[in-house]
Amino acid sequence: MRIVSGMRPTGKLHLGHYFGVIKNWLKLQDSNDCFFFVADWHALTNKYKETSDLKQNIYDLVIDWLSCGINPEKSTIFVQSGVKEHSELALLFGMITPKSWLELNPSYKDLKFNLIFQYIRDFLFGKNIKIDHDKLHEIVYKAFYHKKDIDYEGLTKDLTDLKIKQEIVNEIVHNIKEGDIGKDIDTFGFFGYPILMAADILIYNADAVPVGEDQLPHIEITREIARRFNNLYSPIFKEPQALLTESSKLLGTDGRKMSKSYNNTIALSEPRETLEKKVLSMKTDPQRLKKTDPGRPEICNVFSYHKYFTDLQEVDKIQVKCRNAEIGCVECKRILFESIDKFLSPIREKRREYEENIGYVEKIIITGTQKAKEVAKENMKNVRNAMGLINF
Ligand code: TRP
Ligand code: SF4
Repeated sequence: MRIVSGMRPTGKLHLGHYFGVIKNWLKLQDSNDCFFFVADWHALTNKYKETSDLKQNIYDLVIDWLSCGINPEKSTIFVQSGVKEHSELALLFGMITPKSWLELNPSYKDLKFNLIFQYIRDFLFGKNIKIDHDKLHEIVYKAFYHKKDIDYEGLTKDLTDLKIKQEIVNEIVHNIKEGDIGKDIDTFGFFGYPILMAADILIYNADAVPVGEDQLPHIEITREIARRFNNLYSPIFKEPQALLTESSKLLGTDGRKMSKSYNNTIALSEPRETLEKKVLSMKTDPQRLKKTDPGRPEICNVFSYHKYFTDLQEVDKIQVKCRNAEIGCVECKRILFESIDKFLSPIREKRREYEENIGYVEKIIITGTQKAKEVAKENMKNVRNAMGLINF
C-alpha cells in the first residue's frame, strides 16, 4: 500500500508522539511504500509571525524520526516545501473546492476554541486564581459551541459564578472580544489548510493516510476533492482511506494528556538529569502518605508508566509490593526513571550521532525529497492534461 503522512514541525517530539504516531509508522514502513514528510508549509498556516526556529524544528523533526528508527532505506522522508508541485496542485484544487466545504470544517473552530480556552486558563493562572481544569473547560466549551458566535453573556455569568472577581471577568471577556486571540488564524492560508493537505495526499496517489482523530475531517475533504476532480475531468485520483491512529494512552507527568502546552512532557531527547527530576516529581496514589500505607497501582500514573517501560515480571512485582506496602514511592519512581532512561538512551545516542553529522541528515532529506518529487511530477502531468492545461 502507498501510505502518506506528515507532521508539522513544532518542536521536539515527546513520548506521547512516540506511542501515538511513531510506533505506528515504524510498523507500517516494514510492509508498505511509505511517504513521511515534514509539513512545514502547514506550520506556517498558524505560526507565520515568528519563524526564527522553523528551520531548526524541521531538522529536529527529521532527526527525531531517524533516531526512532524511521528508515530512509524503507521510507521516503522529505520536506513538503521541497516539492513545489504540492502548491501547484493546492492552487488547482482551490479552483474546484466550494468555500462551504472549508467553512464547515470543524478543525477550524476547534483550533480557535483551544486558543481561547488556553488564553483564559493562562490568564487566571497568571493572577494566581486556581480553577478546576475540567470545570473551566466545560464553561468555555458551552460558551463556544452553544451558538454560532461566542456566548459572551453566558461566559461572563459562568465565570462570575466561580467567584472570580467581576473586574477580572470583564477584562477576560473584553480581551477575547477586542483582542488578537484567534485572529492570527483569520487568514487565507489557514482557511485553505485542508486544500493543501488534500494536495499532499492525492499527489502521491495514497491508498491510506495514518492520522489522529482530529484530522479525520481533513481526510473527508480530501476524498470529496478527489471525487469532484474525477467527476469534472477524468478519474485520475484514488480516494484514500484514513487509518485512524489511536492516540497514546500514556499521560503527561501530571496525569493530564501529554502536551507541550501543559508543560508535562518527556521529550524523546530528554537528558538523563531532567528526566530524573520529572519522574521523581510525578504524583502517586494521593491516599498513600507513608510507606506503610498500602497503595493502589491502578490509579497511579507512575504505575501506568511502568507498563510501558519496565519488564513485565518486574511490573508484576511492583504491583504486589505496592499493594502490600513493601515498596516506597520514591524507590518505585527510581525504578521507573531507570526504565525510561534505558528506553531513551539508544534514541538519544542516535540523535547525538545525527546532530554531529548534520550533513548526513541533509543528504537523507535531499534524496527523499527528490524521490517524492519524481512521483509528484508524474502525477502533475496527468492533472494538467486532465484539466486542459499545457504541460510546460
Ligand atoms: N495536518 C496534519 C497534522 O497537523 C499534518 C499534515 C499535513 C498531514 N499534511 C498531511 C497528515 C497529509 C497526513 C497527510 O497532524
Ligand atoms: Fe504508585 Fe509505585 Fe507509589 Fe505504588 S509504589 S503508589 S505504583 S509510585
